[in-house]
Amino acid sequence: MSDPPSVPAAETTASTSTNAPAPGVTNPNILPASHWATIPHTEDTDDEDSSYEDDNASSTASLTSSILEYRTVNGRTYHSERGNAQSWNPNDALHDESMDILHHVSTLMQRGKIYLAPIKDDVQKVLDVGCGTGIWAIDFADLFPSAEVVGVDISPQQPQWIPPNLKFEVDDVTQPWTYERNSFDYIHLRWLTGSIPDWDALYREIFATLKPGGYFEHKESACMLVSDDGTVREGSAIDQWGKVFTEAGKKFGRSFSVVEDGLQVEAMKKAGFEIIQEENLKTPLGPWPADENEKQIGLYNRLAIEQDVEGFLMYMWTMVMGWTKEEIQVYAAHLRRELRSPNIHAYYPQRVVIGRKPERSP
Ligand SMILES: C[S@@+](CC[C@H](N)C(=O)[O-])C[C@H]1O[C@@H](n2cnc3c(N)ncnc32)[C@H](O)[C@@H]1O
Repeated sequence: MSDPPSVPAAETTASTSTNAPAPGVTNPNILPASHWATIPHTEDTDDEDSSYEDDNASSTASLTSSILEYRTVNGRTYHSERGNAQSWNPNDALHDESMDILHHVSTLMQRGKIYLAPIKDDVQKVLDVGCGTGIWAIDFADLFPSAEVVGVDISPQQPQWIPPNLKFEVDDVTQPWTYERNSFDYIHLRWLTGSIPDWDALYREIFATLKPGGYFEHKESACMLVSDDGTVREGSAIDQWGKVFTEAGKKFGRSFSVVEDGLQVEAMKKAGFEIIQEENLKTPLGPWPADENEKQIGLYNRLAIEQDVEGFLMYMWTMVMGWTKEEIQVYAAHLRRELRSPNIHAYYPQRVVIGRKPERSP
């Protein structure tokens, strides 16, 4: 595995303002952080649905343990230093809640299903890689009470009250795996974009750990927020989101363009999987779609982002791109305003790829 560039040590105060793109930024379409302080808020607002928070049916399954030493960056906590892992997702309750809402969005998008692989009722051993709050693994363990389910994450942010057939483990999945070879029937991985320095190496471990005939399902989100009708304008806050994340991923040595670069299909083929299904989804941001189900998805999706914009940005945009906490807050205000506009029809692509390990595998 190649070593990614090192990132400055964690700090507890805002980093120094650059008011300019961070050194090494190569994308001329990225606006400097100072830009956001100079433009007034002129976007339309969508006050009509300001009551939608009442619909927030998310469950918060968060847990922070005082005995664990987390890293603190600009007031947000992250997993403690361990191995090579550099997770940019805060592991605090605010961000956990966003992730749990996104799980609901994902389920709505998959017509109520939390998995798409053709697994059978007698599935025995299941692994969820980078399980986060554990919400997917908990739901899966409830659905398959006779299966033995394991959730692994670098951060111990999972609840303690869990189904008896589920256990959580803390580990860095970018290190060589210690699970018994050919032992799992089904491995699930969702939303590790920006966290993995070498996807080929991770896919090789997954392949080796699956039983012959077992399934691997990987769902990933694009970082580019786009529209099909030109309503996401060049230079808007929504447009900048993906451009800054793409650049940050290059500097960080952990790509945010997994979907954009078609990495899942490539890496699955290289690892030896037979690809049995690929599903491409458009995930609306906001209640702009006409279709009722899509509208619901858009509402929950916007809620997930809006309620913790800073949490999504803080690590990558300060530690890697050199923005200050204050610059992020100004940008976030513009983003929130745009997300409230009924005239902006933004979405982001997601891709689910399912591979099967051939029966006759080495
Ligand atoms: C965006 S969250 C997704 C969580 C979960 N998969 C879901 O769908 O809700 C990414 C998760 O990956 C975990 N993670 C990042 N790098 C990791 C690593 N090297 N080893 C294990 N987990 C990691 C983070 O701690 C975080 O919980």
